[in-house]
Amino acid sequence: MTKLITVDGPSGAGKGTMCQLMANELGWELLDSGAIYRVLGHAAYTRGIDKTDVDALVDVALKLDVRFINGQVILDGEDVTAEIRTEEGGKRASDVAPIPEVRAALLQRQRNFATDAGLVADGRDMGTVVFPDAPLKIYLTASAEARAERRYKQLTEAGVEADLTDILEKVNARDEQDMNRATAPLKPAYDAVTIDSSNMTIDQVMSEMMNLAKQRDLI
Ligand code: C5P
Repeated sequence: MTKLITVDGPSGAGKGTMCQLMANELGWELLDSGAIYRVLGHAAYTRGIDKTDVDALVDVALKLDVRFINGQVILDGEDVTAEIRTEEGGKRASDVAPIPEVRAALLQRQRNFATDAGLVADGRDMGTVVFPDAPLKIYLTASAEARAERRYKQLTEAGVEADLTDILEKVNARDEQDMNRATAPLKPAYDAVTIDSSNMTIDQVMSEMMNLAKQRDLI
């Protein structure tokens, strides 16, 4: 059995946290595919490439020198973690992500993360496109309100001024963009198990995910 778990879902559903915890617990690798799209969006922005210039974007996507080291994202030897994790970074990622040629250019790079060491893959199309044969596919979701509140809490706790209504609008806008694009839209794979984390604690989600992994004989 391939040691592979895909976790897809909208932004703010808790995928990042859960995938990291799961990978730590199992001793598997983690693929944060959103970070790859964020790095590409960032690279396009800093190089002044317009989102309509598909050839230039594909060229950057194919040559992207990105490394993930201890939770840090390194682009061309430079730590870009803080820049790509902003709302603007998410928006820049969503701007380049709908382009089919860009997605195709990033496909093999993502598939290369799957090794015998085991992989938890976090994204929007991990179970539907990148790893269609994964033995366990999870669709982790939560209401837009719950996701906006989590983001609000995260920002205010970090001392950043935030406006809940504004965040909710941005959450809805990004969902809209991710769910309605023609290529690899965000949706559960037909064989995915959906977990709605709106009213669940991290521990509860973790234990449900671990149970599913056990049921599939992955651990
Ligand atoms: O998961 P994260 O919020 O970091 O992803 C940023 C954006 O990258 C998403 O809103 C989406 O537009 C895009 N993305 C994607 N496919 C993935 C992962 C992320 O299109 N597998």
